[in-house]
Amino acid sequence: MSRIIKHVGIIMDGNGRWAQLRGLPRYEGHKRGVEKVKEIIRAALRLKINVITFYAFSIENWQRPKKEVDIIMELLQNHLKKEINNFISQGIKFKMIGNRSLMPADVLYIIEEAEKATANCKELIAQFAISYSGRDEIIRAVKKAIQKNIKPDNFDENTMNSLLDTSEVPEPDLIIRTSGEQRLSNFLIWQSAYSEFYFTQALWPDFTDDEFTEAILDFQKRQRRFGKVSEFTRT
Ligand code: IPE
Ligand code: IPE
Ligand code: MG
Repeated sequence: MSRIIKHVGIIMDGNGRWAQLRGLPRYEGHKRGVEKVKEIIRAALRLKINVITFYAFSIENWQRPKKEVDIIMELLQNHLKKEINNFISQGIKFKMIGNRSLMPADVLYIIEEAEKATANCKELIAQFAISYSGRDEIIRAVKKAIQKNIKPDNFDENTMNSLLDTSEVPEPDLIIRTSGEQRLSNFLIWQSAYSEFYFTQALWPDFTDDEFTEAILDFQKRQRRFGKVSEFTRT
C-alpha cells in the first residue's frame, strides 16, 4: 500500500440482478446494496482513502418505474437519517453531487441536513452521486460560468473544475464498477479523464471489503503516465 490513493469512485451496479437471481423483488437488492455502502465506507476509513464517491442514482434512473424510484428514495432517506450520527462520530463528511432541482423536497431536506451536520468532518469525504449525470453536471457548470460572466480568455480547466459539483475534491484515481458491465453510464465523465478502471463480475450486494482492498492493490501496480514517458503523479 505504498502509493497514496486519494479518491475512489464506485459504480454500484447489479442490485436488481442480485434480487432477480433469488426470485426476490428488485428493491431487496437495493436494500442489500445500502448495507454494502456501510461496509465499504469502513474499508475506506481503514485504508486511509481521502474521498470515496458512490454512484447511487443517475438522472437516467428517474425513468425507472415509479415504484422502484420511490423505494430507492425512501431507502436513501432512511439510511441517511440512521447514519448521520455515525458519520459525525467517525469523521465522515457527507456530500451529495448531482442535480438538486430534480430531487423530492423531503429527501433533499435530509441530504442537506446531513451535509450541514458533517461539514467539518475530516477523516473521509463520502460523496453520493444522486440524481447525477456527468453531462448534466457539465451543463450546470457551463451555465454558472455564463451567469458569472466569465470571459473566454479566463476560462480554463481550473475554472471548469471549480464550477463542477466535485470542486472540493481531487479527480478519481480509481473507478470500480461491479456487475460485469464495462461502461461509465455518465459517471464523472469530466473527472475520469485519467482514472484507472477496475471491473468485477460481482453484483454490488456480493461485493466485499476484501475485493475492495484487492482493487486498491491492483491499482497500486499500475503505471500512470498522464501522457508523459515516465510515471508522474499529479498532486
Ligand atoms: C444499481 O443496481 C443501483 C441503481 C442503479 C439504483 P441496478 O438497479 O442497476 O441493478 P441491475 O443492473 O438492474 O442488476
Ligand atoms: C449506473 O447503473 C447508475 C448507478 C449505478 C447508480 P445503471 O444500471 O443505471 O446503468 P446502465 O443502464 O446499465 O448503463
Ligand atoms: Mg444496473
